[in-house]
Amino acid sequence: MTDIKDKVVPWVFTAPEYNTSILDKAWAQPDCGRMMLNENPVPPSEQVVEAITNIAKRGNRYPDRMYRLRSKLGELHGVKAENIALANGSSETIDAMMRIFLQPGDEFLCSIPTFEMFPSRAGLCGATTVQVPLRDEDLQYDVAGMLAAVTDKTKLILIINPNNPTGIFIDDADLIKFCELGIPMCVDEAYLDYHPEVEAKIDLVKKYPHVFLSHTFSKAFGLAGIRFGYVVAAPELVDAFNLMYLPWNVSLMAMAAAETVLDTGEVKQKVKYNNDWMATFVKELEAVGLKPYPPHGNYMLVDASVTGKTTGEIVQAGMDMEKLFLKTIKPINGKDGYFRVTPGTPEESERFVRFIRNYFGK
Ligand SMILES: Cc1ncc(COP(=O)(O)O)c(C=O)c1O
Repeated sequence: MTDIKDKVVPWVFTAPEYNTSILDKAWAQPDCGRMMLNENPVPPSEQVVEAITNIAKRGNRYPDRMYRLRSKLGELHGVKAENIALANGSSETIDAMMRIFLQPGDEFLCSIPTFEMFPSRAGLCGATTVQVPLRDEDLQYDVAGMLAAVTDKTKLILIINPNNPTGIFIDDADLIKFCELGIPMCVDEAYLDYHPEVEAKIDLVKKYPHVFLSHTFSKAFGLAGIRFGYVVAAPELVDAFNLMYLPWNVSLMAMAAAETVLDTGEVKQKVKYNNDWMATFVKELEAVGLKPYPPHGNYMLVDASVTGKTTGEIVQAGMDMEKLFLKTIKPINGKDGYFRVTPGTPEESERFVRFIRNYFGK
């Protein structure tokens, strides 16, 4: 019999895997705090649930590309509906952008660490991911190093702003250096809604038609399980995304939820909830001598290397002592002892505070 693996295109089984098995564990153990996946711990409002239920009654019909919603998203950013393409979560954008710009043998440039979905989806197009380590001293993007890593095979660049997992913003002057290369570039602004005082990089999209922004409603807006995201780009690039996304990629329910979340303005309370807990976490972590990185999103990278404990030991202790899922962070530039945490429900977040005091406290 033929081995099916011989029939599959070669890069399917060699691409780095984006492993989601932690979610199977988390759903199976609802008493454990989910502080590992940058989810929003606040459920959708009643209005959102009602909007989903109402539109579900029309679930026999195919969805359109909802001009009204695209206009509202456009208004949010001072652009037109033609500048917006709707996605089934920003992961769909990650997948589509790879297939729009990369062929087997091409290079995709980003940092390491990064959100691991990116190298995975690039690999699934047969492309190579070139990952440049963050700067040792401050874990900021190594802009000079990334620029030096550009070759004539580099067909797509990624900057996550603020970066995941470090939470650090990149300077505009540095972003512009990448834009000036003329190579397609994604600025992933998944977490920008937690700091609305920092503007989305719309000006760059207007000036450089090869630059696009990726947004999601999975984070501050709290719709991760409902799946909604969008791209902001020049109209020709929006056309390319719409061709590459599947028709009917966004369900009626997801669009109704997204529109209602926008209309209710509930994001404000969700952002406040997150940022208040972050302030508490920073205080508690510093009190026991650990180094929290800036919590500009709904996650915080913590350097606990001073304790000599490994990330594996810390994450295991969080589970053993307080039944908390924390995020394992592979050694950064050879240094072990980092972990990442996202605020949970009030009760889970209190458990995390207790964990910090009891595990790391003197
Ligand atoms: C930087 C970044 N981009 C995109 C995503 C994917 O989000 P979603 O597909 O839920 O929109 C994540 C999820 O954690 C992320 O960290």
